[in-house]
Amino acid sequence: MSATISAVRAREILDSGGRPTVEVDLWLSDGTVARSSVPSGTSTGRHEARELRDGDPERFAGDGVRTAVAHVRETIAPAVLGRSPFAQAELDAVLIELDGSADKSVLGANALLAVSTAAARAAASSSGLPLWRYLGGGTLLPLPMVNIISGGLHAEAGLAFQDFLILPVAATSFREALEWVAAVRRATAEILRGRGLSTLKATEGGFGPPLPGPEAALDLLVEAVARAGRAPGDEVALAIDVAASHFFRAGLYRPADAPDGLDACGLVDRLERLVDDYPIVSIEDGLAEDDWHGWELLSERLGGRVQILGDDLFTTNQARLGRGIEGGIANAVLVKMNQIGTLTETLGVIEQARVAGYAQVVSARSGETGDDFIADLAVGTAAGQIKIGSLAQSERLAKYNQLLRIEEQLGAEACYAGRAALAPLG
Ligand code: PGA
Ligand code: ZN
Repeated sequence: MSATISAVRAREILDSGGRPTVEVDLWLSDGTVARSSVPSGTSTGRHEARELRDGDPERFAGDGVRTAVAHVRETIAPAVLGRSPFAQAELDAVLIELDGSADKSVLGANALLAVSTAAARAAASSSGLPLWRYLGGGTLLPLPMVNIISGGLHAEAGLAFQDFLILPVAATSFREALEWVAAVRRATAEILRGRGLSTLKATEGGFGPPLPGPEAALDLLVEAVARAGRAPGDEVALAIDVAASHFFRAGLYRPADAPDGLDACGLVDRLERLVDDYPIVSIEDGLAEDDWHGWELLSERLGGRVQILGDDLFTTNQARLGRGIEGGIANAVLVKMNQIGTLTETLGVIEQARVAGYAQVVSARSGETGDDFIADLAVGTAAGQIKIGSLAQSERLAKYNQLLRIEEQLGAEACYAGRAALAPLG
């Protein structure tokens, strides 16, 4: 374990939305090479670490990342050369200090994360360990939360809520879980076609049909689960990502089907009705990212019945999660590495959640690359749940397929998390 970082190279590549992102190749003195690239969100939270974009309107409408790439080459590489890739926390501390800002806006969270994860991958490879073993050696295959219908900023089709998802809670292995999901996805397409509705795909590979409201989307999912031969709720449960920050304006929630606006109480009432009427086991971002009062109300009303999951609320940030834990707000955290910008801080959030009894859902972004790091992260840390998008598109399948490989490698040791991973009862 004496190998040190001997070279770092960065480049601009394109993500699944055709937008630029940062990719890093990192070499060790023993000849090991590792590659890593970072994702990017569409419905980003205000409190996320900043990804640096060039702002040059002549290239990619300002979305180029040449500045972030230059920061890797000119500032980060010289500072990490000669350092140990095995001391992840120390390495990430160097990155954080080099940037020096609270939100990583100086060098860019995209520049920092690509180096941070490439170093971990190189260290694993140099040790002769699969990445998931190196990241903690967990044996738990996560319960996938899989997008079937998209709305919000991901589909532009009229549905205010962003994700309508299915969870194969009663499958007995990850492989079987994906078979069930594929069957429900096929059944959904058949139903949509039968009604003359669009099966065009949204950003994460889910369907984006024009539907009048969340009830119509949930009815469709219940029907599709049954058509696929599974019991809605008992075998395949439902979840929603409301992504409420994106229809919160001037103090009120304004989903397309409530144009006059609702206060937090009105939206919580509505979510409670959905939980009463459908086999929903998880609600993500039911309220806006800074509506702590509303979140308190939601947690009181529904936190004993379903998973209350904070994405834009917590932004994978230990300070924000700490505030939530202290206030009894939510009972689960979404974990997106690029919301915080280093692997060490991500692992810190997972540990903090675990200690507090909060469930952890490792998550992809709407803009992804072929990088499959999060599959290993979820298993290695035994996070219990993963959210990757739909069962479509190579940037999503890269992660699902890596989980299939890990399950195979684990053999008899593998354990599929299933329903037990869900808060509040898991
Ligand atoms: P994003 O969406 O990657 O566009 O932020 C994912 C989510 O909200 O969970
Ligand atoms: Zn979300």
